[in-house]
Amino acid sequence: MPGQGTILEIGSYKGKSTVGLASIVQRYGSGPVVAVDPHSAPAVTDFGHGSQQSSWDDFRASLRAAGVEGSVEVHRAYSRDLAKGWDRPIRFLWIDGDHTYRGAKQDLELFRRHLVPHAIVALHDVLHAFEGPIRVFVDELLESDQFGPAGVCGSIGWAQYRPVDGGQWRAQRRALARKATRLIPFVRDGRQPTGLAKLRYKFWRGLVPHDAVKPDEWLQMVRGA
Ligand SMILES: C[S@@+](CC[C@H](N)C(=O)[O-])C[C@H]1O[C@@H](n2cnc3c(N)ncnc32)[C@H](O)[C@@H]1O
Repeated sequence: MPGQGTILEIGSYKGKSTVGLASIVQRYGSGPVVAVDPHSAPAVTDFGHGSQQSSWDDFRASLRAAGVEGSVEVHRAYSRDLAKGWDRPIRFLWIDGDHTYRGAKQDLELFRRHLVPHAIVALHDVLHAFEGPIRVFVDELLESDQFGPAGVCGSIGWAQYRPVDGGQWRAQRRALARKATRLIPFVRDGRQPTGLAKLRYKFWRGLVPHDAVKPDEWLQMVRGA
C-alpha cells in the first residue's frame, strides 16, 4: 500500500485484526490504525458473535495486552457515523463489519472516494457464507476498471485501487470473478447453504484460488506495471 494515508478498519470485535494491523504500524512508525465498531451490533451484522452484549471490554483488553493502545485511534461508532465527518485519505480499507450485502456495499461507498491511488481494499469472509463480502468483492471490485491487481488470500478478498491504469488487469480480475461469482447464488438474500447446496457451495469455493500470497510476487503486482 502507499506510504501516505490512513489505515481504516471497519469492524474490530475483540481486536484480532486491529492488533495485527497496529503491530505493523507500530513497527514501521506509520500509524495509527483507525478502528470503528459500535461494539454492540445486532447479531445479523456480526455473524454469530452476537451472544455477548458488547465486545468493548475484550477489545480494550486485547489492545492493552498487545501493547498497541497508542497505535489505534478507536471510534466506538457505526461506520456510517464515522463517515459523516471523514476527510482523510485512505491507503488501506479493511471491511469486516456488517456482512449483509447492504452493509458491506455501504461501507465501500462511504469511504471509496477517500482512497488514494494504489490503496488496498480488503474484505473479510468472501469465501464464507455471507452475502455482503462476496457480492461487493465481485460486483464492485473485480468488475471495475478502477481497480487493478486483485486476489483472494484465505478468506480475504483484496484489490488495489488503480483509477488510472486499472484496466490493464481486467483479464486477470475477470478470470477471478468468473470463479467467485458462482458462490453468489448460494448466499443471495442472506441465505445459508445447507445439505446438497452446501456441498456444491464448497465445491465451487475450492475452485477459487485463495493461497497465501507470496510476498515477492505480490509486491511486483501492486507496485505497478
Ligand atoms: C466479524 S466481526 C470483526 C472481526 C474482527 N475484524 C477480528 O479480526 O476479529 C464484525 C464486527 O463488525 C461490527 N459491525 C457491524 N456493523 C458495523 C458497522 N456498520 N460499522 C462498524 N462496525 C460494525 C460488529 O460490532 C462486530 O464487532
